[in-house]
Amino acid sequence: MTVLTVNKLTASVGAEIVGLDPHRLGNDATLGDALLEALEDNGVLVLPELHLDPVAQVEFCRRLGGVDHSSDGHHAVAGIYPVTLDKAKNSSAAYLRATFDWHIDGCTPIGDEYPQKATVLSAKQVAERGGETEFASSYAAYDGLTDDEKQRYASLRVVHSLEASQRRVTPDPTPEQVQRWRERPTHEHPLVWTHRSGRKSLVLGASADHVVGMDLEEGRALLSGLLDRATTPDRVYSHSWSVGDTVIWDNRGVLHRAAPYPEDSPREMLRTTVLGDEPIQ
Ligand code: OGA
Ligand code: MN
Repeated sequence: MTVLTVNKLTASVGAEIVGLDPHRLGNDATLGDALLEALEDNGVLVLPELHLDPVAQVEFCRRLGGVDHSSDGHHAVAGIYPVTLDKAKNSSAAYLRATFDWHIDGCTPIGDEYPQKATVLSAKQVAERGGETEFASSYAAYDGLTDDEKQRYASLRVVHSLEASQRRVTPDPTPEQVQRWRERPTHEHPLVWTHRSGRKSLVLGASADHVVGMDLEEGRALLSGLLDRATTPDRVYSHSWSVGDTVIWDNRGVLHRAAPYPEDSPREMLRTTVLGDEPIQ
């Protein structure tokens, strides 16, 4: 198995992998396994200034699992989705303002798809100011609970919706907007995710609307309190992008968000999503 040089970036999340050859990413089978192992251990892997080309990025992602093609059509290369607020580069850019809040991708799928296993972003153009991507471990969020909390929260269930995440960035929607959001089914997930590995994490973030069977405000206060504790600055890795950087995150074990950047910023990230194979349970 390939030996990687892994330098931890914070105590709980993030590591830099140095000395990788971008050409090996797409065609070295053992490298994919080594990176998946490093991803499980670190939540986020930073591959600085790799300048991976989009085709090689998709090839590489195939080594990590199935590639998501549900958002194809926004970029010439199948498997690449441009993350940008520029409507000229992505016609669904308006929805992406919700990336400014802490979230886990794929908590409100169209059907019953499992949340994505991993996401790869490569910086094509960066923001002049802001636009860092921030990460916090959702395993550390669980591990940081007291024993009493672990017991009390073990059976809680939380309703997630697209509306909850969109309302945070669009608090005064038009009736048409609300109607469109509500076309997406809501999903109920446990607060505590027990992974196949045996590790446990908290399922929190912008899509988490309310706790089942709990007073609405009380449940919302619980969710936002837990999120605040999970994302205190000492628990966050903030990635300041350089053009050509590639970052991979374990979407099952981290929360992430984009630091705000102007709507007219040229910032453009090329994203490939690796499909999940594990339900939140
Ligand atoms: C995403 C996302 C954050 C960013 O692509 O899912 O949340 O920094 N991106 O663009
Ligand atoms: Mn996201």
